[in-house]
Amino acid sequence: MCRPGNVLKIKNKRRPRRADGVDLRIPIHLAVIMDGNGRWAGKRGLPRTAGHRAGAENLENICKACIEQGIQYLTVYAFSTENWSRPAEEVDTLMDLFIEFIHRFDTKMAREGIRLRFAGDLAGLPSRLQSIIARAEETSRHRDRLQLIIAINYGGRRELAQACRKLAEQVQSGQIEPDSIDENLIRSVLYLSDVPDPDLIIRPSGEQRLSNFLIWQSAYSEFWFSDVLWPDFDRKHLLAALKAYTLRDRRFGGVKQI
Ligand code: FPP
Repeated sequence: MCRPGNVLKIKNKRRPRRADGVDLRIPIHLAVIMDGNGRWAGKRGLPRTAGHRAGAENLENICKACIEQGIQYLTVYAFSTENWSRPAEEVDTLMDLFIEFIHRFDTKMAREGIRLRFAGDLAGLPSRLQSIIARAEETSRHRDRLQLIIAINYGGRRELAQACRKLAEQVQSGQIEPDSIDENLIRSVLYLSDVPDPDLIIRPSGEQRLSNFLIWQSAYSEFWFSDVLWPDFDRKHLLAALKAYTLRDRRFGGVKQI
């Protein structure tokens, strides 16, 4: 993933939308930490897995809202490299839910023009899920309204460790010299090197941390936090985040252009 205008030239082709009389500046890439499913379920006396199911349903609505707003990439944190430490029943249900989501949402995604991609250490996932992921990526490759990127068995530190290993192998085989390793070369061995860095990262549920999500790519991302739990996070919360993003002054380490 890289910053628009840096390595990749990606233009936001869609027109800015308005919300509450404000012309919105639309992020090209939005990333979301879908947090709060367990608490959402607990408040209703339901098992945590019911919260994840409600969270998965909400993802469908947020995809629609992103398309409406002209967002081109949506990356969601669905399962971290640390989430394996959860009770086996919860982990198993999540794996089943990912499979169900890919199957159930497939027709809708085709209709809406959503391309499905995955970022993470996919080799560590159950083999059935791995083949379903490979098929979904292949069949949706040509769709171009929204790229939905599901971060699964994803950890920013693991991504960087794997990137280091790939570069070390390239040095060992004589493909590159150690001196040629720079930021662009590191980017080229991250999971999805063609995807621009996230402009805006949203974390609902009241927590205010990154939790090992996109640690390289978020170097210049804007952050927006909300107390709303993910299954309740709807279009109006998204618009509030976009309004706040519109008012941010992004300088990327430079000075304001007058
Ligand atoms: C964090 O909330 C959420 C997760 C670890 C899982 C996210 C998964 C989904 C939204 C469902 C399925 C996703 C797809 C792509 C189909 P938490 O469980 O830690 O909530 P808590 O902090 O309230 O306990």
